[in-house]
Amino acid sequence: MPTALIILAAGKGSRMNSDLPKVLHKIGGSSLLAHAMRAADTLMPQRVVVVAGHEAEQVRAEALSLGVADIALQEEQLGTGHAVAQAKDVLADFEGDAIVLFGDTPFISPETLEKMTAARKEHDVVVLGFHAADPARYGRFITDGSRLDRIVEYKDATEAERAINLCNSGLIAADSETLFDLLEAVKNDNASGEYYLPDVVEIANSRGLSSGYVTCDEAETLGINTRAELANAERIFQDTKRAEALENGVTMYAPETVFFASDTFVGRDTVIEQNVVFGPEVTIESGALIRAFSHLEGCHVSRDAIIGPYARLRPGAEIAEEARVGNFVEIKNAIIGEAAKVNHLTYVGDATVGARSNLGAGTVTCNYDGVMKHHTTIGNDVFIGSSTMLVAPVKIGNRAMTASGSVITSDVPAEALAIGRARQENKLGLAEKLFTRLQAIKEKKKAGKQ
Ligand code: UD1
Ligand code: MG
Repeated sequence: MPTALIILAAGKGSRMNSDLPKVLHKIGGSSLLAHAMRAADTLMPQRVVVVAGHEAEQVRAEALSLGVADIALQEEQLGTGHAVAQAKDVLADFEGDAIVLFGDTPFISPETLEKMTAARKEHDVVVLGFHAADPARYGRFITDGSRLDRIVEYKDATEAERAINLCNSGLIAADSETLFDLLEAVKNDNASGEYYLPDVVEIANSRGLSSGYVTCDEAETLGINTRAELANAERIFQDTKRAEALENGVTMYAPETVFFASDTFVGRDTVIEQNVVFGPEVTIESGALIRAFSHLEGCHVSRDAIIGPYARLRPGAEIAEEARVGNFVEIKNAIIGEAAKVNHLTYVGDATVGARSNLGAGTVTCNYDGVMKHHTTIGNDVFIGSSTMLVAPVKIGNRAMTASGSVITSDVPAEALAIGRARQENKLGLAEKLFTRLQAIKEKKKAGKQ
């Protein structure tokens, strides 16, 4: 069955106290909107419509970056039913099921969505519910066996209805055309003066259609309204990712100090030491060692490589098998070849380093001329002396060397030794003379102060 997602993201999220629309706040480096969409990946939706309102342009930009082109604008937030109705025109030519998700509810699992689509075989409208530990202000399900009679919002509920703990998550699945038909009959004569999406349940039943429900764990329905809830959601997310990594054969000595992004991939038998942070788009192959206090983003680390301690891998860092990147080394947009070593205090940016080459302490690829970036190419089996400045664009041939402290501004042929520094001169006795003179000046100053 073709599926369309309608993701509600028009709300202001005032309690976030933010200029950023709520759905653009991040968990594990990805926006809440991205999380909401990822859960639905397994349904392989043909269409995704994001309903935006507050700061719609920012929401649109994020949606586009996630590959969603359909944005429906809800200029005024008149309720969840009104929000969904805004997607009608965009989906006019769509035939199939529509599933309504909330953009601020990041933990819905793919299994739960599959349960909803499966239940659609028995019911025209399927709503996702949960048993709430504290039902608080959620909408309540009024049920008759497996059938859902109606949903009553907390504000409109009687005391007896408020005692029910089977609550509405907000997610609804129905045939798209049917859903928009039902929405046309929704009124706003309720305690909030809003067009409630859940009202479609009772309207469907009154038209001889059937409404049913499935349930999920309350944790999946967790919504984000405040920064504290966002921080709590991040904690839950990190715990889940850590447990997953351990389960997949990753060793962590202090998993509670390792922070993952939503798309971090770590291979089996990799060891991650304490206090490691993964930004977005990191893949680590099997058997790598990521040592303490390293920060990685947008990079790929191959089998048996060793990173850190205190290493920083930035976007475009590609570390080949058995390579080593040591302490206080920053790598950006650069390939470090097989078994190459960049062990201390070094910046490698916009560069290619060949296999088995060794970059001495304090090497810098001077990649930026103030306006443009340039590339440094280092061949295989090269030895770069400590504190070499490689002024890009520049090429170092295979088995070449540079002398320590060199400033290399032109290409070095294979097997050559490049020396690019002032020749050393020794002035005999001059240091001793200087010491004596300076000491005398210091004594004189001291005497003057007394
Ligand atoms: C809604 C449900 C309630 C359910 C609860 C679960 C309704 C009327 N009530 O209540 O039964 O228990 O969610 O969390 O649906 N939004 C828009 N445009 C609007 C209004 C809302 O895009 O005009 C978006 C919000 O940004 C949010 C989502 O819809 O992502 C839910 O809206 P919210 O105001 O949080 O609904 P609740 O009152 O929590
Ligand atoms: Mg809410």
